[in-house]
Amino acid sequence: MKTKRIAVLASGRGSNFQAVIDAVARGEIPATCCGLVTDNPDAYAIERARTAGIPVYIVAYGSYPSKEAYETALRRVMEDLAADLYILAGYMRILGSGIVKLFHGRLINIHPALLPAFPGLHAQRQALSYGVRVSGCTVHFVDEGMDSGPVIVQACVNVEDEDDEEVLAARILAMEHRCLPTAIRLFCEDRLMVEGRRVRILPGNALSPESRC
Ligand code: GRF
Repeated sequence: MKTKRIAVLASGRGSNFQAVIDAVARGEIPATCCGLVTDNPDAYAIERARTAGIPVYIVAYGSYPSKEAYETALRRVMEDLAADLYILAGYMRILGSGIVKLFHGRLINIHPALLPAFPGLHAQRQALSYGVRVSGCTVHFVDEGMDSGPVIVQACVNVEDEDDEEVLAARILAMEHRCLPTAIRLFCEDRLMVEGRRVRILPGNALSPESRC
């Protein structure tokens, strides 16, 4: 199987990006990480990329006169990377439909809730205010809606009575760090088949206990 090229887009802390770096380093994902793309020159994800020897591409949102100009620059960087898969891992901007269409089927996102519940910002806060007993995370293909594309992997966590937003977010984040590498691995092993809204996982090597979610 040909090793895939994967690229990550992140805007901040980058702990999901780190989980991907680590899973690639452990040989769990048959891929090379060919770049980190960020809209935020202060993102801690940049340090993580440099430590891992991954090229960094800063497309600073604030240095473009308009969203269109920003997206044109972003699109060029993404095209030049020629990745098989682009991963939104804490990328905090909504991509325009031009980019979403161009990378259709090769663009995935991680969201800290069990979609279709609680899309958009502050998903953990939304889950707490609604009063659900379980929440979790979702890795999905990106379409033109808000967190609405076909679901690849989901995992749930309990919501406890005493949880605040920070505690719940940390519990979900630990699950994200397992689900995102798992979804990327399945993609890179050519095991994802999208049929309408449903994603079928084709048989293959069993997932190790650490990467199972
Ligand atoms: C994660 O909770 C992710 O699901 C959401 O933003 C957060 C990013 O965290 N989209 P990190 O930057 O990966 O640590």
